Amino acid sequence: MTDFSDRVEQVSISGIREVFEAAGEDAINLGIGQPDFPTPEHARQAAVEAIEDGQADAYTSNKGTLDLREAISAKHDRDNDFSVPPENLIATAGGSEALHLALEAHVDLAEEVVYPDPGFVSYEALTRIAGGDPKPVALREDLTLDPAAVEEAITDETAAFIVNSPANPTGAVQSEEDMKEFARIADEHDVLCISDEVYEHIVFEGDHHSPMSYAESDNVVVVNACSKTYSMTGWRLGWVAASERRIERMLRVHQYVQACASAPAQFAAEAALSGPQDCVDEMVAAFEERRDVLLDGFADMGLDCPTPQGAFYAMPKVPEGWTDEVLDRGVVVVPGEAFGDHGEGYARISYATDMEQIEKALDVMREATNAVRQ
Ligand SMILES: Cc1ncc(COP(=O)(O)O)c(C=O)c1O
Repeated sequence: MTDFSDRVEQVSISGIREVFEAAGEDAINLGIGQPDFPTPEHARQAAVEAIEDGQADAYTSNKGTLDLREAISAKHDRDNDFSVPPENLIATAGGSEALHLALEAHVDLAEEVVYPDPGFVSYEALTRIAGGDPKPVALREDLTLDPAAVEEAITDETAAFIVNSPANPTGAVQSEEDMKEFARIADEHDVLCISDEVYEHIVFEGDHHSPMSYAESDNVVVVNACSKTYSMTGWRLGWVAASERRIERMLRVHQYVQACASAPAQFAAEAALSGPQDCVDEMVAAFEERRDVLLDGFADMGLDCPTPQGAFYAMPKVPEGWTDEVLDRGVVVVPGEAFGDHGEGYARISYATDMEQIEKALDVMREATNAVRQ
């Protein structure tokens, strides 16, 4: 009898989509997970030229073009406290495929994967698709992931834990001390740390740190992408960085499910990574300004919201019925429980939309807050 796999039967379509679909076309969308800026012109042009010259017609090397991997390697030398040679990188179809490769290559049937709750929706789903057993861990009061909670959740059955900073859906940024702890845990427990760094450049306070900088073993895999940094979500271009033996295993999966990342996107990404970076600074400055307006608005309404230090999300605590009231008034926000059981009582507000919309949305949130408090 034709049947569906148990792994896939356990995965549901993301709750975020359902919220979008429930809202009308005129809704103000604060549910969105992508920057509202154009892809930098020089990145677009690089793809156009590659297409016109016929350079993007064929498969590239499975790992991606050497030029792109050199650009990623140079980016790590420029921006991060660790180095990765081009041969230790695989260009992927976005951060999503990079996460999938890391889990497929390292998680055996029924092995556990520890990840933040609330956390990015793919962590649970991709763990299940890999046949693993999801082990969500509640966050601290300030919505950061506590290394001690991760260490406590690790058992003999744990294959990996996932760290995400800056984080979706909370906007929280992990401290350097926390990242050192995650590296120590990966080393001492001989368990893989998957560090999802797709928002690394969108940091308003403090600095981005990676467990890759501190680990003494090769037990850290870094997942990254051009999607958020360069507003390139549609191009589908990310990468994994890891040791040679881990790259070799992930390549076995990538080679058969993807062959190679899209060639035009590889040319665009190479230009984005190695070209001028001021477009990133401008975008981050705009996000910071919007965040501050939102935080002032939440404070006015009496909503408690840990200050998000990065990404473009805020996660206030909201009264019961608030998300529905806001949605009914035409503003899309995502209920916290879409990101895990511990997200209940929160809402994720994305500020990847212009200031005018944000101000209108704040008026609506004010009305909704008054309505639920009456
Ligand atoms: C934390 C996090 N990781 C990974 C991704 C996947 O990004 P991509 O669009 O590059 O697949 C996202 C996208 O929303 C994300 O929020």
